[in-house]
Amino acid sequence: MEQQQKKILCVGLVCLDIISVVDKYPEEDTDTRCLSQRWQRGGNASNSCTVLSLLGASCAFMGSLSAGPVADFILEDFRKTRIDVSLVSQYAECEIPASVVISNISSGSRTILHKNRNLPDVTAEDFSKVDLHQFKWIHWEGRNAEEQVKMIQRVEEHNRSFPQQKITISVEIEKTREPLYQLFPHGDVVFISKDVARHFGFGSAEDALRGLYSRVKTGAVLICAWAEKGADALGPDGSIIHSDAFPPETLVDTLGAGDTFNAAVIHTLSSGGSLQEALTFGCNVAGRKCGFHGYEDITKFRELTIHKN
Ligand code: ADP
Ligand code: FRU
Repeated sequence: MEQQQKKILCVGLVCLDIISVVDKYPEEDTDTRCLSQRWQRGGNASNSCTVLSLLGASCAFMGSLSAGPVADFILEDFRKTRIDVSLVSQYAECEIPASVVISNISSGSRTILHKNRNLPDVTAEDFSKVDLHQFKWIHWEGRNAEEQVKMIQRVEEHNRSFPQQKITISVEIEKTREPLYQLFPHGDVVFISKDVARHFGFGSAEDALRGLYSRVKTGAVLICAWAEKGADALGPDGSIIHSDAFPPETLVDTLGAGDTFNAAVIHTLSSGGSLQEALTFGCNVAGRKCGFHGYEDITKFRELTIHKN
């Protein structure tokens, strides 16, 4: 298979998002009406797949699901969005992870209450069965990092054996959990959140990139998105690349902005675009996404793709 025709795989969480849209954040212990309510397939890796697919990339999701009507809703939505789910494992005895989200259209804020009781994450053993030849890029949402490092080592071995069919490895370190930091030296592209930057005591994306770059492997790119300040990246040549944010006319829904940004960056880089093109496209798609609910309208941005191979 030609390298360019291969798929992008995202490994991580899928969950149910139960979203209540309000125009005023509720007071505790009150009973109010919201403007609307919807169910949406969520989870960082799952959202990034959605955006990749809507941008026209072929992609697959690897993660766990329970069984039953909610899992069926999620599977149906994956299929509707043309995301390959052949690597999804179902656990009938487990509870599905779910988030209750209050999405405030007056500020664009999203307040998330997440529960994940007993659904196991993908293991290195599960991953050992994956046919790597189908993929040109694999993205890991940092979760069970110790297992994820083993999965990545398998890909590194594949890359040594098949240098013409190299798979690019990206990782996202979003949560401020110490074990996730072992992922730093394992990505060709490493995404960190502003929460992680702040956790290390940095007040800006640029400071975080300069301060944390020694943790990534030789030649890697470190990227840090910073909401309305846009995003910065640092690669092996030592120069900081920046894109301003693209604020929408009205800020409506920031849920999944980071997942959208990651997907648009991966889409650009995996089609041969430059780091600057990737950051600019990432901020453009993520910023516009904040102007509407959900992700579907992202199909309109396909023609914005700066770099077409
Ligand atoms: P999250 O909190 O969802 O992980 P971030 O807040 O870091 O994500 O935002 C990711 C990207 O989304 C930013 O780099 C920016 O391009 C875009 N973005 C997020 N919030 C806004 C906003 N309020 N205005 C414009 N763009 C935004
Ligand atoms: C957004 C998101 C939601 C999910 C939550 C899990 O980035 O993936 O879809 O409910 O984060 O932390």
